Amino acid sequence: MQNIKVNLSRNSYMIKIGAGILDQIDDSLRSLGMRNKAVIVTNPLVKNLYGDGLNTHLMKAGLETTVLEVPDGEEYKSLEQTGRLFDRMSEFGAERSTPVIALGGGVIGDLTGFVAATYMRGIPLIQLPTTLLAQVDSSIGGKTAVNHGKLKNMIGAFYQPKIVLADISTLKTLSEAEVVNGLAEVIKYGIISDRGLFQLIEDNIEKLKLTHMDVTEEVVARCVDVKARVVEKDERDEGWRNILNYGHTIGHAVETVSDFKIKHGHGVAIGMVGAGMIAQRVGLLSAFELERIRSLIIVAGLPIKIPDLDIEQIMQAMRHDKKKIEGKIRFILPRNIGEVLIRDDISTILVQEVLRDLGK
Ligand SMILES: NC(=O)c1ccc[n+]([C@@H]2O[C@H](COP(=O)([O-])OP(=O)(O)OC[C@H]3O[C@@H](n4cnc5c(N)ncnc54)[C@H](O)[C@@H]3O)[C@@H](O)[C@H]2O)c1
Ligand SMILES: [Zn+2]
Repeated sequence: MQNIKVNLSRNSYMIKIGAGILDQIDDSLRSLGMRNKAVIVTNPLVKNLYGDGLNTHLMKAGLETTVLEVPDGEEYKSLEQTGRLFDRMSEFGAERSTPVIALGGGVIGDLTGFVAATYMRGIPLIQLPTTLLAQVDSSIGGKTAVNHGKLKNMIGAFYQPKIVLADISTLKTLSEAEVVNGLAEVIKYGIISDRGLFQLIEDNIEKLKLTHMDVTEEVVARCVDVKARVVEKDERDEGWRNILNYGHTIGHAVETVSDFKIKHGHGVAIGMVGAGMIAQRVGLLSAFELERIRSLIIVAGLPIKIPDLDIEQIMQAMRHDKKKIEGKIRFILPRNIGEVLIRDDISTILVQEVLRDLGK
């Protein structure tokens, strides 16, 4: 088991990573002074796998609980579901001190986080992430949100959890496609900040795809550590936290133009190669390092090419991204594996050229 602290003065919290760690939930709640009631938010699939067991465990520990289900899918990360959860929580008698537990992937985590941030102006949030993406990314850092209309993560709040318990053994039931999706972010952490982690992923990629417990625990912990250190420096995403968007500038645009038929991890993978190509062409990254990035993405089972999509539409989508800075498109460019720079001065012509090469 590994414990990683996120240091944010009054908002500090622990992230515990290990196989079987969900069984420690009652101890964790007790140590946080939560002894009476708890709300569990999950979806039907995860409820069957882990929710019922978790609920029984908490009831045995003497807590009064309720399990609230949200249908499975990104479209349910909505204000409508937020309202439904508020109703059910108030029927249950949830108070300011009642913790709400998010059990599931990033969809459940983001929605429950937003509910926790806003119900009675904020109640304690516990994250129990059950996908690789949620364990290394969405459960940490306090970004909570729901979608609004066609806009992803439009309505939200910065709201840190009280604790995160990442039970690696829950990843065993994840489909290979979901594991691979999460691996894109895992590789990202190596490239932006931890060369040793990148090497570890290279050496163990097959084991990671099969969620071999020891390697997965080590890798998840290293990723969490990278994210925690970045969030500590820039909790509200005003500068340095941008580096977590490596691969996301092109990635988001590709996802959007594909009408979200391309999965997030796939978009990020293509985007990481694209940003790597830009970095190489402006003289930051060596051809050798770029090849290492490309090769790892391929063996992870992720794409490196833009499928049949219109390059001009991708350019347009990048210009409309909410992260752009005064008309400039912001890129996170690797200088080496393990080190990136934030750059706002990349010419449109170079970006178009790289997109065309990514489409070939
Ligand atoms: N808040 C943040 O900082 C942040 C960062 C990255 C992504 N996100 C958000 O995260 C969401 C994506 O998260 P995701 O990739 O986890 O998707 P997800 O939550 O939709 O989960 C993917 C699928 O796996 C299933 N599942 C979950 N745990 C399982 C398990 N242990 N075994 C079997 N199946 C399981 C889910 O039911 C779902 O069908 C997006 O909404 C994205 O915007 C947020
Ligand atoms: Zn991402």
